[in-house]
Amino acid sequence: MSAQVTLSKIRSIAVIEVNNPPVNALGHAVRKGLWDSIEAAEADDTVKAIVLIGAGRTFPAGADINEFGTAMQEPYLPDVIDRIEDCKKPVVAALHGTALGGGFEVALGSHYRIAPADARIGLPEVNLGLLPGAGGTQRMPRLCGAKLTLDVMLSGKPISAAKAHAAGLIDRLAKGDLRLEAIKFAEEVQKVRRSSDEEQGFLNTKSYHEALDDAKKMISTRMRGQLAPIKIIECVTAALETPFAEGRAFERASFFECLSSEQSKGMIHAFFAERASAKVPEASRAKPRKLESIGVVGGGTMGAGITVAALDSGLPVTMIERDAESIARGRTNVEKVYDRLVAKGRKTKDQKAAVMALYTASTDYGDLSDVDMVIEAVFERLDVKREVFAKLDEVIKPSAVLASNTSYIDIDLISSATSRPSQVIGLHFFSPANIMKLLEIVVPSSAADDVVATGFALAKRMRKVPVRAGNSGGFIGNRILGKYGVCAAHMMEDGASPYDIDAAIFEFGYPMGIHAMYDLAGLDIGWDNRKAAAPNRNPKERYVAIADRICENGWFGQKTGRGFYLYPDGARIGTPDPEVLKIIQGERERKGLSTRKFSKQEIIERYLAAMVNEGCEVLREGVALKPSDIDVTSIFGYGFPRYRGGPMKYADMYGLDKMLSNIQAYEQEDPIFWKPSPLLVELVETGRNFDDLNKM
Ligand code: 3HC
Ligand code: NAI
Repeated sequence: MSAQVTLSKIRSIAVIEVNNPPVNALGHAVRKGLWDSIEAAEADDTVKAIVLIGAGRTFPAGADINEFGTAMQEPYLPDVIDRIEDCKKPVVAALHGTALGGGFEVALGSHYRIAPADARIGLPEVNLGLLPGAGGTQRMPRLCGAKLTLDVMLSGKPISAAKAHAAGLIDRLAKGDLRLEAIKFAEEVQKVRRSSDEEQGFLNTKSYHEALDDAKKMISTRMRGQLAPIKIIECVTAALETPFAEGRAFERASFFECLSSEQSKGMIHAFFAERASAKVPEASRAKPRKLESIGVVGGGTMGAGITVAALDSGLPVTMIERDAESIARGRTNVEKVYDRLVAKGRKTKDQKAAVMALYTASTDYGDLSDVDMVIEAVFERLDVKREVFAKLDEVIKPSAVLASNTSYIDIDLISSATSRPSQVIGLHFFSPANIMKLLEIVVPSSAADDVVATGFALAKRMRKVPVRAGNSGGFIGNRILGKYGVCAAHMMEDGASPYDIDAAIFEFGYPMGIHAMYDLAGLDIGWDNRKAAAPNRNPKERYVAIADRICENGWFGQKTGRGFYLYPDGARIGTPDPEVLKIIQGERERKGLSTRKFSKQEIIERYLAAMVNEGCEVLREGVALKPSDIDVTSIFGYGFPRYRGGPMKYADMYGLDKMLSNIQAYEQEDPIFWKPSPLLVELVETGRNFDDLNKM
């Protein structure tokens, strides 16, 4: 039929096999091959029924995402699926691996479905800012009702075939060879059976209305600002309340509305950016070193979080602390995480015990002599870190990799305390380290390729999203944060309250504003940094001392009950503090500043301009390899809304020329802070954008 779709015959059963590695995406050649194969099998009088199966690791995992945004060629996927459903001979879909998106929609258009219990089935289009656009929103609820349909489509998370079987989506669970069992199933089935003909039997049931109400409530908070979830709910409602053809037409129109939105462009960009960030020169040049055990030095916030992340990925961990009291606290910090999971019913006591059996607590550095990698997470002080690395150098084996979780310190200054600087990298985890997906892998001047590759191997094992960062103060994320943090401080002094600024950032799609985030992280961290940086600060640079004034009161954020916000009685969400507004007004008066109003739009324009301009500098200096790495860092480490694609993608969509002219206007007010990055100027002058750099 075609190289990507083959048609063969076993007895009276036609077997149509999709072979388009790695994930059998339903690109044009596959769609055409499926269409032609169905027609040929239908026309062949010796064929009684048809099996549809994927070669290699999976049934098709969806439409070919690379084709979105290009001129699609016929046959279109919904038509191919209708053609399968209209086939006069029974079609059995045999699913294995990950039958996702358009792939699962092909299965829903088939007349019967068989899968091994561990196959994964799902409709993850929402993660791309889309909805299932090839009949999925119409066929699935007809088979299993609104609740499971909405759960699967709105979460984007796959379910097991076993669960799908229990819900009536899969007819039979295969126990042995899928192909043979599918052929046998096809030999048994007598007639075609169309999902689209199923009665809308779930309509008007209590669970139908509850499912819709719950879904609407959930998306208004957890998927705030996103178009696709709203459209998904509308499509599922249409499926159960209108005839198939009408619902299908509505689904089609809604799909194109989503596809043409900036949200789907942002999310599709994020999908590829996330995968591109793991492709770094070092990992292509060298293989990772052996990685079967880990040492962690420091059992505080980060050390404990890193330990849990390692234990969760099955790596035994030896934790080292300063003294008996500190290591007891370190152990408690680790146990607390698992105790919470046990209390929530997400782990059993036995499972906790099994994980904790991989954990060793010690105050003796000698216990690290056999581990493959040590991650240091002690106080953020160069002298302390150098002392720790010198001790490690004495005890660890020659092949072991050494890593620091420092937030800001130059890794070269740490590695020079050892006799093996080429074996030292930065592994910058984010708090809480067992939850946050981002891992900045900091590559200092002399790091060996296989050491860097080992960092990436660790990220993969821990299911983190790794980003390669150069060894410059604050690396990628904190360095850019530093810049837009200052921009926010300027706006605050000029008239916007921290609460106005946070409201604008929240509305943009961040989970919280920057001041709420500072309060969560602890204001003392920034205060220490500013004090340390004070001697090198340009005296002509504008300096906003509001946060210092707040810290001088001992208000360090949530942990002290007040910071930029008030947190009465241990509240997790802060309320505005009139005393903080007085401090701000006091600083304005001290400097003799006149104030003005900032609209939400202006707050966001300035905030993003500061972020993107510094992003350009980070690129120009080679600290980030490509713009999409900055997007990944911002999304997975700093809460940048994924549906906006990351700051650099957002800037492309906003218009680099417009952003540059904003910056040039701000430059008139403050030429030191608002210096347009030469890279941004060059891109505008040459008519290029960040996507062009990503492709280089
Ligand atoms: N289209 C094009 N390329 C795809 C793809 C797709 N649907 N799914 C995965 N790929 C590519 C990846 O970009 C990657 O390419 P690379 O090696 O060049 O980086 C390669 O396949 C392997 O992917 P992963 O690295 O992600 O491999 P994993 O084994 O970790 O995961 C997977 C496999 C679970 C299938 C995961 O790739 C995935 O979730 N893919 C997306 C699935 C999806 O979103 N499907 C819906 C598409 S939209 C749709 O179907 C619309 C329809 O309703 C009309
Ligand atoms: P923390 O204060 O909670 O923990 C530090 C731990 O190190 C303490 O338990 C202390 O007893 C231990 N320690 C100090 N000296 C030691 C030594 N010589 N040997 C063994 N243990 C020693 O600090 P936190 O927040 O965990 O930070 C640790 C590192 O992680 C710092 O470098 C910090 O910059 C970095 N980091 C912190 C983040 C955060 O949000 N807290 C985020 C990312 C990185």
